[in-house]
Amino acid sequence: MTTVDLRTPGELADAERWTAHNYHPLPVVIAEAEGAWVTDVDGRRYLDFLAGYSALNFGHRHPGLIAAAHAQLDRVTLTSRAFVHDRFAGFCRGLAELCGKDLVLPMNTGAEAVETAIKVARKWGYQVKGVPDGRANIIVAENNFHGRTTTIVSFSTDADARDDFGPYTPGFTIVPYGDLDALTAAIDDHTVAVLLEPIQGEAGVLVPPAGYLAGVRAACTDRNVLMIADEIQSGLGRTGRTFAIEHEDVVPDMYVLGKALGGGIVPVSAVAANRDVLGVLKPGEHGSTFGGNPLACAVGAEVVKLLGTGEFQERSERLGRRLHEGLAALTGVVAVRGRGLWAGVDIDPALMTGREACERLAAKGVLVKDTHGSTIRLAPPLVITEAEIDLALAKMREIL
Ligand SMILES: Cc1ncc(COP(=O)(O)O)c(C=O)c1O
Repeated sequence: MTTVDLRTPGELADAERWTAHNYHPLPVVIAEAEGAWVTDVDGRRYLDFLAGYSALNFGHRHPGLIAAAHAQLDRVTLTSRAFVHDRFAGFCRGLAELCGKDLVLPMNTGAEAVETAIKVARKWGYQVKGVPDGRANIIVAENNFHGRTTTIVSFSTDADARDDFGPYTPGFTIVPYGDLDALTAAIDDHTVAVLLEPIQGEAGVLVPPAGYLAGVRAACTDRNVLMIADEIQSGLGRTGRTFAIEHEDVVPDMYVLGKALGGGIVPVSAVAANRDVLGVLKPGEHGSTFGGNPLACAVGAEVVKLLGTGEFQERSERLGRRLHEGLAALTGVVAVRGRGLWAGVDIDPALMTGREACERLAAKGVLVKDTHGSTIRLAPPLVITEAEIDLALAKMREIL
């Protein structure tokens, strides 16, 4: 095939012409995928080392998940929450049990689940904690990433995410991530919740200092404040545990979940909490037409079943050790962070930017994504094999 015959340039030009430029994707146009591999429109194969930012923890088109989706497509796909459907309770019960919580509220995207958690925390603050009306405050961390809605970007510290989108939603206090004293000092009588990523993904896979999450838990319990763990990217097996917060034996008051919950097929998100928290919502106060739809519940229930075996958590822990050992041995890398099959890799800025590293790796058949500066993020699907990890490491060695 000559360059003239390639479909990629035309597809890229059309995408550029017809869509808002709110992303700067790598120049790869994917046509098919299976497991840890994708194939582009010109037949080139790539090892997917990003896995949809953890939305594809079980790989592309996992057979069990695809079968569950197919079976549901032949029965009923959407009812709205005006009615109950026969996949709803089973999914919600399974997810609640996986989380060890009484109740689940399913939504669609991660940002919607974060919004749900914020609304629930505020309402809990007024109705249970007794915070004066309109004064509820939530503590968040610097360099957080919780989504893109106007309220969520109001407490972002990333200028690209926040600037020019005001006026901003009040009611948030930002403290440095990993600084327990700063967080504890920020709690006052109006604080209803602390909202944190147990590992900050977008910031570059930042793992907080040992003891931080346990300290936050203790401070929240002490001051009657809800601890909300945004496990949208870190949860569901990614770090070698069902939830990243388990590494510190911490149980939050509310889990916020998304990405992998949809099995790489449909957007499925949820919050999980006990009745004394999630029970504050009454009919008409919150919802979503698509949240908890039959197709989402069929896929989500299968995801819960896969996680129930512990196989994926075990794979992530075991193969993650191999990945991290291999990354630590690379020259041209100045720092590696993360847990399980999740790594933030700081490349020596004198060598190349993160974007350049991603482009060079893509040219060698490995897909990863930069975060900021010279940092790239690796999050292969948990179905990845040892040989595939070694292959990606070899390609990284070549580009460095
Ligand atoms: C920790 C975290 N929270 C929330 C979100 C937002 O999820 P979504 O893009 O599905 O709205 C993301 C997405 O990257 C995330 O990583």
